[in-house]
Amino acid sequence: MRQKIVAGNWKMHGSLVANQQLLTQLHAALDGYGGATFAVCVPAPYLAQTQSLLTGSAIAWGAQNLSAHKAGAYTGEVSASMLLDFACRYVIVGHSERRALYGETDQVVAAKFAAARDAGLTPILCVGEALAERESGMAEQVIARQLDAVLAVAGIAGFARAIVAYEPVWAIGTGKTATPEQAQAVHAFIRHKLAMVDEGIASRLIIQYGGSVKAANAAELFAQPDIDGGLIGGASLMADEFISICKAALS
Ligand code: 13P
Repeated sequence: MRQKIVAGNWKMHGSLVANQQLLTQLHAALDGYGGATFAVCVPAPYLAQTQSLLTGSAIAWGAQNLSAHKAGAYTGEVSASMLLDFACRYVIVGHSERRALYGETDQVVAAKFAAARDAGLTPILCVGEALAERESGMAEQVIARQLDAVLAVAGIAGFARAIVAYEPVWAIGTGKTATPEQAQAVHAFIRHKLAMVDEGIASRLIIQYGGSVKAANAAELFAQPDIDGGLIGGASLMADEFISICKAALS
């Protein structure tokens, strides 16, 4: 039985003042629930604040990106070991915004995935198709290509301590959620593809859904057999919404 994981992706939002309020509310509301794992992935400058406010809480934390390199002349980059200095457990890799806006190729994403894993972080690997790809019947092919790039570098063993997040690009920040059936079909495809390589690893793999998850649709999505929680963007910035989504993962 897989335990669901709900993670917030704040993207480039937040301030010391706003974070203080949000994290304090989450800490108070989510304490004492053992049936699921909760996390927030915050902008790197707020990791120290997040660590200090969430240490001892039921909520883990992580980052939204990392460098594939260990150290060196890479101005502006943040390494896995730096994230570990702030006790991060998770790091998002290959978010569609990184792929589309910052030119991260499947190979770059795979290298970042390996760097995170090698350092002991749990990567949250985002995969998903754009609208045109779905409409032309290419969704599975795109996701297979994204997974194959990571398999080529990290092997199936790489997925033993990793999370996959299915985030259809057309559902991100659009208010247009995949239906539970649409999402379940892709999640089952991902699990089946990895099960062809290693059934045990695939059956234990957490596959989150992301894309316009709200309190109003979370329970229905999380009830699907292959949906093991969510990666939440906009709604993770609103305490009441995010708390409700987290609680929907408990039932
Ligand atoms: P929204 O929940 O705002 O659609 O964003 C999803 C996402 O990109 C999470 O990584």
